[in-house]
Amino acid sequence: YTQRSQNITRVEHGVPTEDRERQNGHKGGVLWFTGLSGAGKSTLATKLERALFDRGYQTYVLDGDNIRFGLNANLGFSPEDRAENIRRVGEVAGLFSRAGVLAITAFISPYQSDRERARAAAGDMFHEIYIKADLETCEQRDPKGLYAKARSGEIKEFTGISAPYEAPDSAELIVDTSKLSVEQALEELLTYVEKTFRK
Ligand code: PPS
Repeated sequence: YTQRSQNITRVEHGVPTEDRERQNGHKGGVLWFTGLSGAGKSTLATKLERALFDRGYQTYVLDGDNIRFGLNANLGFSPEDRAENIRRVGEVAGLFSRAGVLAITAFISPYQSDRERARAAAGDMFHEIYIKADLETCEQRDPKGLYAKARSGEIKEFTGISAPYEAPDSAELIVDTSKLSVEQALEELLTYVEKTFRK
């Protein structure tokens, strides 16, 4: 995209991020979940949000389906639209992070380059978490019946079937949901967050 706004200058915040983090007792940041449809991103994101909230964390989930109802309602699933989807979410997640909040994002985010851009927008507290499950497992689960529709051609450009998924090669954490139960996966995530973000 091209930067169209001109004559703009940055404004300093009245409350620096460090002050917010001191008050919250934990650092702000982004837990960037990536993985195939049906891998477990939304399930784990919402359970992790609840568990962290109960432990006193300021946390908020940004979920692909939800964001596409509002902020990104004008975007489809072409590579260009996915890139714009992830660009905007990367920026929003960065804002949450600097507000001292632990943002959990649940987007397929199939392209490595888009995820790298999101990382650059969020800063050093960006943690890429690969919610890993092979296509066969996801297709068997098919919780929304989308794989069946993709196979029949009713849905075009469906990730894993007729659109690519580039698995991360430098994720900070890999959670293999084809091997772990939901409870075990959640435990791994909680341990990781407590270690990484607690002040
Ligand atoms: S992306 O690739 O990151 O821009 O996608 P995301 O914003 O996460 O949206 C994925 C959800 O949209 C539904 N859906 C599709 N997914 C992939 N490909 C196609 N063509 C498609 N059409 C609709 C689907 O419910 C995805 O949600 P999850 O939770 O991943 O199953």
